[in-house]
Amino acid sequence: MDRIAIEGGARLEGEIPISGAKNSAIKLMAASLLTSEPLRLTNMPRLADTRFLGKLLRRLGVEITETDGEQGSETLLHGAEIVSSFAPYDLVRQMRASFNVLGPLLARTGHAKVSLPGGCTIGARPVDLHLQALSALGASIDMHEGYVYAQAPRGLRGAEIEFPVVSVGATEHALLAAVLAEGRTVLKRVAQEPEIEDLALCLNAMGAKVEGAGADTIIVEGVSKLHGATWSVIPDRIETGTYAMAVAMAGGEVRLTGTRFDFLESLWDRMRAAGVDVAATNDGVEIKRNGARLKAVDLTTEVYPGFATDLQAQFMALMTMADGESVIRETIFENRFMHAPELARLGADISVHGGEARVTGVDQLVGAEVMATDLRASVSLVIAGLAAKGETMVSRVYHLDRGFERLEEKLGACGAKVRRIKGDGEEH
Ligand code: EPZ
Repeated sequence: MDRIAIEGGARLEGEIPISGAKNSAIKLMAASLLTSEPLRLTNMPRLADTRFLGKLLRRLGVEITETDGEQGSETLLHGAEIVSSFAPYDLVRQMRASFNVLGPLLARTGHAKVSLPGGCTIGARPVDLHLQALSALGASIDMHEGYVYAQAPRGLRGAEIEFPVVSVGATEHALLAAVLAEGRTVLKRVAQEPEIEDLALCLNAMGAKVEGAGADTIIVEGVSKLHGATWSVIPDRIETGTYAMAVAMAGGEVRLTGTRFDFLESLWDRMRAAGVDVAATNDGVEIKRNGARLKAVDLTTEVYPGFATDLQAQFMALMTMADGESVIRETIFENRFMHAPELARLGADISVHGGEARVTGVDQLVGAEVMATDLRASVSLVIAGLAAKGETMVSRVYHLDRGFERLEEKLGACGAKVRRIKGDGEEH
């Protein structure tokens, strides 16, 4: 298994290009199941998660061609014929969002057998809301031996669905199914993340009729067929926020390019309160921190446009060396502080009680061996390592590879001393 070694203390200077959003790309890939014509996705990130989903989609009958040229990375997905409606456990468990093939398979073929994704390190993450939405759209659903069996032989039909809890995945799943349902679907109390609007706009480019994505209610007028389209994946706001915090932690001046400043207002608010210079540029954001110690600030994770849970671990890393005490509340997932004991191995002073962590800034972190526990937790350890004295060695970086493209190269180009040690012991 690969590891990443970080020699702390280098300032970061330069530019980091931001990739396409992982959490948009994987939902857009699933949309390819809805049409027999090709869907061309540009600005595609190349990640373990997009590879996992690609493997499943190929099994279902989607031909996938990847090209990486000067125009960026593209993926052409062509589901001319769905050859199977079965998503097995060994593929779904590798990447839980694979579960979202259920709705499109059902809408296109009238039936599907998809493995339940199981739990994960950040929380129980049930899929009850996904299944309730598909039932409301007329699917009959049974569950046994870890599989969901869904049927809608005469097709799905529009419905009014009010979600009891705001869920990104359930909103997207309902949308993916409703576009081919007969009649009108009204989805209330939906998630408003930019990735949802991206999915809705791509579906519209494929001939769907979706209105209101990005707000609290989405209205879908079902159509009988979708066609092919070309769609550019939005920039990854979590990657953007992560590098912004890496610069704030290490010190320096870096432009993050090819991204969207407006996706991250709540992060910029907290970073500015902590004393970081943040400025919008014409294609992204410029982050500066020169000299002065950061101030401790509190934060609470919330659904969009609130502070993203996917940036909480990175912000905690930033607070470990701030002046004062920071209270961090996690309200989205019940077990998302696994990085706290790993940060403590670097000398951080953190106490966790339920959904609340208190971080008291220390003068200096010191490098140590630490272990990645999930995707965002792993990158928080890299951020901490950038400011720690000496070497930090992060193991289990396969978590990191699920969502960060060429991390060592991007940080290295700005002067960070980050290297990958391959499982075979070779350094890269
Ligand atoms: C998405 O997960 C993201 N994943 C997560 O990013 C992100 O942390 C999360 O949204 C919140 O922003 C992808 O987009 C692939 P939810 P998702 O459904 O859709 C509960 C990363 O690091 N819930 O909005 O699974 C759930 O348990 C990942 O890239 C139910 O109770 O999140 C949670 O407490 C990690 N029943 C809350 O809702 C359900 O049926 C929000 O989860 C569904 C969800």
